[in-house]
Amino acid sequence: MPRLTPQDIPSHFDIIVVGSGAAGLYATLCLPTHLQVALVTKNTINMGSSNYAQGGIAAAIDPSDNPVLHLEDTLKAGVGLCDEESVKFMVENAPAAIAHLVEMGVAFDRKEEKLAMTLEAAHSRPRVLHSADTTGRAIIDTLVAKVQERSNIQVISQAIALNLWLTPLKDRVQGISLLHESKIQWLKSSVVVLATGGGGQIFAQTTNPEVSTGDGVAIAWRAGAVLRDLEFFQFHPTALTKTGAPRFLISEAVRGEGAHLIDEEGKRFAFEYHSAGELAPRDVVSRAIFHHLHKTATNSTHARVYLDLGAIDPDRIRYRFPNIINVCQQWGIDVFQEPIPVAPAAHYWMGGIACDLMSQTSIRGLYAIGETASTGVHGANRLASNSLLECLVFAAQLSQIEIQPNLVAPDSDISQVNSDWNTDMEQIEAIRQMLPSLMWESAGISRQGELLNQALYQVNRWRDSLANFEIVKFLANLLPNQTIELNSTNAEQQLRKVAETLNLLDLGYLILKSAAWRTESRGGHYRNDYPQTSNHWNVHTLVQGDRFWKSPTKIKSEPSKIKSIGS
Ligand code: FAD
Ligand code: SIN
Repeated sequence: MPRLTPQDIPSHFDIIVVGSGAAGLYATLCLPTHLQVALVTKNTINMGSSNYAQGGIAAAIDPSDNPVLHLEDTLKAGVGLCDEESVKFMVENAPAAIAHLVEMGVAFDRKEEKLAMTLEAAHSRPRVLHSADTTGRAIIDTLVAKVQERSNIQVISQAIALNLWLTPLKDRVQGISLLHESKIQWLKSSVVVLATGGGGQIFAQTTNPEVSTGDGVAIAWRAGAVLRDLEFFQFHPTALTKTGAPRFLISEAVRGEGAHLIDEEGKRFAFEYHSAGELAPRDVVSRAIFHHLHKTATNSTHARVYLDLGAIDPDRIRYRFPNIINVCQQWGIDVFQEPIPVAPAAHYWMGGIACDLMSQTSIRGLYAIGETASTGVHGANRLASNSLLECLVFAAQLSQIEIQPNLVAPDSDISQVNSDWNTDMEQIEAIRQMLPSLMWESAGISRQGELLNQALYQVNRWRDSLANFEIVKFLANLLPNQTIELNSTNAEQQLRKVAETLNLLDLGYLILKSAAWRTESRGGHYRNDYPQTSNHWNVHTLVQGDRFWKSPTKIKSEPSKIKSIGS
């Protein structure tokens, strides 16, 4: 598909979908075909967490399974904070979503004729469908091919959404501002769908790709949308940890197939922390590794832990994990001969833009889907392989969307800017480097009130100091419908970097503040100064602008006995 230049892009669409992961791609395919859709994405079309998904996608399809069991496992993992109605909706619609993927051509692994299913941590049944260890790629390749067949969808890649365009009364959305090919322009639309993925890049250690800077959540917050449960971040226990290597995920499915966590002395330690050992819930295993590393470190050496695949049949490893074998090999690790060095890393953000069952946010015309959204299905901790499923099930809701006619944008004023922001950039880049380390130390696996507040103070100082830079003032003072041509691609790169840094700083503030406020431990949020789960905190945290509050209703901590699901 040829890339669109700013001259080719119409100034008006029915719908703009921002983000081309599983959620954004699937949404565009589910939208009615008479609508003109822009699919805006800041890198190539297939770049996002979805493409890297390994373990698979959950659905109660196996004869030994049913949606009630899937619902119960999901509610249990969410530690009292799931929205039962949303979970019920997701698990009931899971088989249909899988059937649609299969119909479109996604090649899930099969056992004889039937779809093969594996077990992952905290699932009571084998219900994770997979395509070797590159399930995400199998799904994304298929969805991308389908999107490219559609004449009503215009893909605008290497384009970063900067902000929402609200009506003058600020009562609904009417488009976005976009940085693309050295130009800032305003695209009008009746509906905007944010599908910008997660925000793992806010932490120094993450499995998320570079595009995961939480842009959608920050953009929605600045526009006044209600956000929910921002303190809940999931840390995956087993990311490759090798000097120079990215934190490549070693799928939970590897432990599901029988791999053991061992320490430097070869001792299997996970059962010291939980009776389910390596297959305990993700937050438990991450904390077990975190504590074990602290316990076994000496003054002179950092401790290490490893994932040992020795208990798995080598043929099974070759069949199930070809990509993990390859990537480890690239970093000098032969998984058949030696254990893989691993450590926890930020993986999935449960919090996000509060949405209802129709994926609608608190701002009219604004929808959010995928990891950016908080639909209530994950609560305080996501059950493995439920996120790809959530992307599909809630994106499909957009098939029912009704578009309010939106006036065609008047011609925009065009102005040029002679940008010289080089002197600003050094300091901004330094902050961009320091923020993830600060967040990892203060809001990582084990949190503490004093450290959270110190980090909050630092983040606010950075936010204040950045506000004085010319490049930041330039971004803050963009006028709606004013097209600006930049004088160099360097200026575009600088603006991109600044936009992402500002987003990350806003999110840092929001996560730290929410985490400092929740004085208990639950799911992905662990406070070593409040290690117990408290009934008083059986509520969501909500934020809009600088107002933070708790959800008014007390949420059930135990799943109700739903018998009639699917009937
Ligand atoms: P993404 O797939 O991350 O897509 C976000 C898109 O938004 C990208 O196209 C990005 O470029 C674009 N974007 C972001 N900001 C902007 C902007 N400002 N302007 C324009 N475009 C923008 N979940 C499972 O269920 N099963 C698994 O096996 C699994 N494995 C995983 C393995 C890894 C390594 C990771 C990182 C995650 C895994 N997850 C898994 C989680 C799951 O992959 C994600 O939660 C899910 O894919 C998110 O999909 P998404 O469409 O919301 O976002
Ligand atoms: C994994 O394969 O371990 C990741 C699965 C997930 O995040 O759901």
